[in-house]
Amino acid sequence: MALLFLNTFCLSFLALIATSRAGSCRSYCGNITVDYPFSLDYGCGHPGFKELLFCMNDVLMFHISSGSYRVLDIDYAYQALTLHDPHMSTCDTIVLGGRGNGFTVEDWRAPYFNPTSDNVFMLIGCSAESPVFQGFPGKHLPCRNVSGMGCEEYYDCPAWTMVGHKTLGSGYGSGPPECCAVAFEAIKAINLSKLQCEGYSSAYSLAPLRVDGAGGWSYGIRVKYSVQGNDEFCRACEATGGACGFGTDGIKQLCMCGSFNSTTNCDSERSTSSKMTLPLAEALAGFCIHMAMWMISSHF
Ligand SMILES: *[C@@H]1O[C@H](CO)[C@@H](O)[C@H](O)[C@H]1NC(C)=O
Ligand SMILES: *[C@@H]1O[C@H](CO)[C@@H](O)[C@H](O)[C@H]1NC(C)=O
Ligand SMILES: *[C@@H]1O[C@H](CO)[C@@H](O)[C@H](O)[C@H]1NC(C)=O
Ligand SMILES: *[C@@H]1O[C@H](CO)[C@@H](O)[C@H](O)[C@H]1NC(C)=O
Repeated sequence: MALLFLNTFCLSFLALIATSRAGSCRSYCGNITVDYPFSLDYGCGHPGFKELLFCMNDVLMFHISSGSYRVLDIDYAYQALTLHDPHMSTCDTIVLGGRGNGFTVEDWRAPYFNPTSDNVFMLIGCSAESPVFQGFPGKHLPCRNVSGMGCEEYYDCPAWTMVGHKTLGSGYGSGPPECCAVAFEAIKAINLSKLQCEGYSSAYSLAPLRVDGAGGWSYGIRVKYSVQGNDEFCRACEATGGACGFGTDGIKQLCMCGSFNSTTNCDSERSTSSKMTLPLAEALAGFCIHMAMWMISSHF
């Protein structure tokens, strides 16, 4: 009886230690790991990434001022996200009517996100008065190929035969092209209503471009993220067993150490009481492990 009680106590105690040690803000949505600087819980992650990701029915969504996008991938090693906008044109469909999100982030969030330099935005059906074409007199257009991807090849997509390639815009020679490819740096905000465009497509290349043309491109928005050289805090926090978060002001970073929060890391601000409890906890854990070993061996 006493043994059973000790056993139950030890099991729950070990479980408690395991969860508080992990102190984790890490979570999953579908098969995508959500980890620092991202999080699904307010107070977890980096404050520049708060209220950004939402998990709905195992689908991870990215929400910024221009709209909601599905997250296809988070690449923590290269610090990049791959997003999908359902109203974005691809090689198979052209979506017009200005329904696409484009890509615009809130001013305060802008330093943290930038579409990668090898991501091409192809603006479709922009008016001649569009800001895209202003300041480029004569035939000098801002349209160009980005990482080997551009409108000339995009026109070969099946989507264009359906929509009627030459019916948009006002024909050759006069008027703007039906499609104009730009890099994000050139425009800074892909806002279809501001740019007076009917639609857009976005593609990116990860590896050296394959030769099979626009049909082989990856369609989506590849965004580079960065915590603005602010990574030291979190590294120190995690190294001492904490989880990185921020306070209720939504600005100041916090290291969550289970029983307390620290403004530095879990070692430097451990209170005297928890300094006492940690060795005690470790002693208890050791005792529990010995108990378990003894119980196992006594069965044989
Ligand atoms: C997640 O699963 C989908 C299919 O359900 C797959 O296409 C995708 O590559 C997976 N993503 C990761 C990060 O494993
Ligand atoms: C896009 O531009 C329009 C018109 O200038 C503006 O009203 C709207 O707020 C902008 N959208 C975003 C997401 O910035
Ligand atoms: C983009 O690349 C295509 C195919 O290589 C080429 O025909 C076209 O002239 C290029 N366009 C621009 C604007 O440089
Ligand atoms: C630590 O901070 C987080 C995020 O602000 C908060 O949810 C949590 O309750 C705090 N924990 C303690 C022990 O104060």
